[in-house]
Amino acid sequence: MPVWSATVARTGDGALTVGGCDVRALAAEYGTPLYVVDEVDFRARASGFRDHFAAAFGRHGARCDVFYASKALLSSQIAAWVLDEGLGIDVASGGELELALRGGATGARITFHGNNKSDAELTRALEVGVGRIVVDSMTEIEVLAAHAGSAGVVAPVLIRVTTGVHAGGHEYIATSHEDQKFGLSLATGAALDALRAVYASPHLELRGIHTHIGSQILSIDSFKESAERMLRLRAQFAAETGYEMPEVDLGGGYAIAYTPDSEAMDVEKASLEIADVVAQGVDAAGGGWPHISIEPGRAIAGPAGMTLYAVGVIKDVALDEGGSRQYVAVDGGMSDNMRTITYGAEYTAVVASRVSAAPEVLSRVVGKHCESGDIVVRDVQLPSDTARGDLLAVPATGAYGRVMASNYNSVLRPAVVGVRDGKSRVLIRRDTLADLLDWDIALR
Ligand code: LLP
Repeated sequence: MPVWSATVARTGDGALTVGGCDVRALAAEYGTPLYVVDEVDFRARASGFRDHFAAAFGRHGARCDVFYASKALLSSQIAAWVLDEGLGIDVASGGELELALRGGATGARITFHGNNKSDAELTRALEVGVGRIVVDSMTEIEVLAAHAGSAGVVAPVLIRVTTGVHAGGHEYIATSHEDQKFGLSLATGAALDALRAVYASPHLELRGIHTHIGSQILSIDSFKESAERMLRLRAQFAAETGYEMPEVDLGGGYAIAYTPDSEAMDVEKASLEIADVVAQGVDAAGGGWPHISIEPGRAIAGPAGMTLYAVGVIKDVALDEGGSRQYVAVDGGMSDNMRTITYGAEYTAVVASRVSAAPEVLSRVVGKHCESGDIVVRDVQLPSDTARGDLLAVPATGAYGRVMASNYNSVLRPAVVGVRDGKSRVLIRRDTLADLLDWDIALR
């Protein structure tokens, strides 16, 4: 699968360009490491989800809305792109909520998630009129009802359902099997109890049900299975109460390709198959259609982003099995990409500032942190003449890169720059040494 964003090309002298910007110029202007987001690619993926799902559900005379899962990558300018493409925004904290609002979102276009929202987050959500608050526990039902009651409003609620479908790329990012912290279980009846509690509350409006089965999912069957279970739950609740919940949110999790030999979810195919399964569920229940929504994050932001690093030290390290590996140390590492060390994620890399005629050798891209696990790309072929000062580009880092970055070893988190039509602009600025010293409270 292609791993580079849509506008990536090589110039005549071999350097990479993205959004019409030469990576050498970007590195010179903004420094490295640098996250670069291809706006055209990002928007095309957002509108691709919107159009494919609208068309697939449209065949059944139904609607499907897309909410961008902003945990993947968020700034107010990115929120504005998302809104401009006709998507809503899913937020999972008070911070994400404020950025979405700053980007121009009205409360109505926001879905608010989280398994442990604070009182401040819940009251802020009510204050700005968040369109759907996804409730994750019985405790939250009570707390939200109390806040809504004292504010004199009725809170729109979706119940987060644990469907028991186990899917996703890594144990830490699978979210709908039984023994984990998210949601209310379908199997134990907890989901049904929560629905009854919300339905009975004068301060809550039961809008529907939500599920998110995991992330980096390649099997459409997992989505279909969870959609079937959700439609059955909706039918069961309608049979009990006569109330057909108007909304069903099927979450995100669409896989992307990180390396040339890995696969991505086929979004169009997924949209058609999911729509058909939902249609069968609606037919079987004999009632009306719910309003369906989905929440992709990674599949919109991930492929649109790349990270640029400057190469520092190169070492040839002998391998036990014979031969050697070229260790290429870059000026970032686990502080700007936590995914390799956390999930054993695989990436690829290329020399981006020139084309090399030297043979490729087995290489490992490592960072500058004080841990041997500080690996950016575990195995990759890079030219044997890779040298200090070269720029390396790692594709598909747009999602869960900057948002999971840390200041480990007191490094400065990189900037995020958006590129389009030969122009670049800062979306999130780089941390500065002044920031670092400012966060520190000196002894006086
Ligand atoms: N909706 C909900 C309720 C979610 O919890 C998530 C992701 C999404 C949507 C979007 O999922 P996506 O389409 O991006 O797969 N840090 C991990 C991923 C954690 C995902 C958490 N929830 C990683 O780097 O792989």
